Amino acid sequence: MSVVNSYFISSLVLNTFRNYQHNFFDFKNSSHIIYGENGMGKTNILEGISLLSAGRGLRSASIDEVIRNGNNSTGIEGKITSNLGEYNLNLSVDFSLESNSYKKKYFLDGSQIKNKNLLDYYLNCIWLIPQMDNFFLQDNASKRKFIDRLIFNFDKTHLSRLNEHDKLIRERNKLLSSGLVNNKWLDLIEEKLVEITVPLVVSRLDFLNSLNEFTSNDDKYPLHLSFIGEIEDLLAKHVYSLKVENILKETLRENRRNDLVMSQTSTSAHKSKLVCIFKTTNIGAENSSTGEQKMMLISIISSFVKLLQKVKQISPILLLDEINVHLDKNNTEYVVEKVLQFGSQVFITTTHQEIFKDFKAKFEFLKIN
Ligand SMILES: Nc1ncnc2c1ncn2[C@@H]1O[C@H](COP(=O)(O)OP(=O)(O)OP(=O)(O)O)[C@@H](O)[C@H]1O
Ligand SMILES: [Mg+2]
Repeated sequence: MSVVNSYFISSLVLNTFRNYQHNFFDFKNSSHIIYGENGMGKTNILEGISLLSAGRGLRSASIDEVIRNGNNSTGIEGKITSNLGEYNLNLSVDFSLESNSYKKKYFLDGSQIKNKNLLDYYLNCIWLIPQMDNFFLQDNASKRKFIDRLIFNFDKTHLSRLNEHDKLIRERNKLLSSGLVNNKWLDLIEEKLVEITVPLVVSRLDFLNSLNEFTSNDDKYPLHLSFIGEIEDLLAKHVYSLKVENILKETLRENRRNDLVMSQTSTSAHKSKLVCIFKTTNIGAENSSTGEQKMMLISIISSFVKLLQKVKQISPILLLDEINVHLDKNNTEYVVEKVLQFGSQVFITTTHQEIFKDFKAKFEFLKIN
């Protein structure tokens, strides 16, 4: 396996960002343990880095939230190294009088990046934050969303398909609620819905198959992930997607009256359920202990990084916020060893730096106060 593109950040500047006024961090492309007391700004540093890559960052915050209180703009600048060379990535957030809202702009070495899709090439980060610790206890929609986001890293059409799918479901529900059960328009919507749903479900199943290659071989927490649902069952039974599409179209037509009563679409990609089994005991992840669940989530994220390395030859920066929470000493050390093997730059935040003292040779220790 040849990893072509590893991302490293050598320095970070935070201007009127969260609790920072104007701060410079010299990371020298090294992995870091960022430690300090509660509320000092450890997670904010990780968030700053994550915001230089595409999307809303590790807190999914709205852009005006990240501006330091009492200010009306913010700036983040990172010096990045990748196979593209060394370059400055800059995010600035300013208030636009024209649109009466805050606007995000990205710059590469001072020139604005107009096409946001290009951001993926300049920086790639993966994060794990404490809010994800209860992942296996979340509802189905949240679990699907998590997997869909992972798929999006490999297949950009996945997100547009999902949006189109959800739009068609809303349109179908709206038409049904107006009592038009035998409407030509419904035929058309269901036809389109089926054409989108089947490839959507197939791409989820394909992705989990690829991911399982790694999750099932995890040496401590081997997992098997699958999606279950009506469409998944049909796909298991029939070789041809076209056959599944036809059956699904018929099912939607038959379900119209029931769906009208229930104000929902009872069969589609939004009903798939993620199942995660701990292979060693055959127990579902949701019934495992808190620490075990965290280890399983780490197994999924690690497998995802391995898949990225294999398929896209990308090695992202790892942002691990409070990784040791819920983990015993053995598991904490196991996880640190594991993430170091990726050859990526790793950032770990903690209030207990002494836990990581055996890794002094592998990390720089940065105290925030
Ligand atoms: N927009 C903002 N303006 C000013 N301060 C902010 C803003 N948003 C958040 N903060 C503050 O930033 C501080 C640091 O937050 P952060 O989450 O980075 O702390 P932390 O070091 O990770 O703490 P913990 O150990 O509890 O996780 C908090 O006290 C918070 O109130
Ligand atoms: Mg924190």
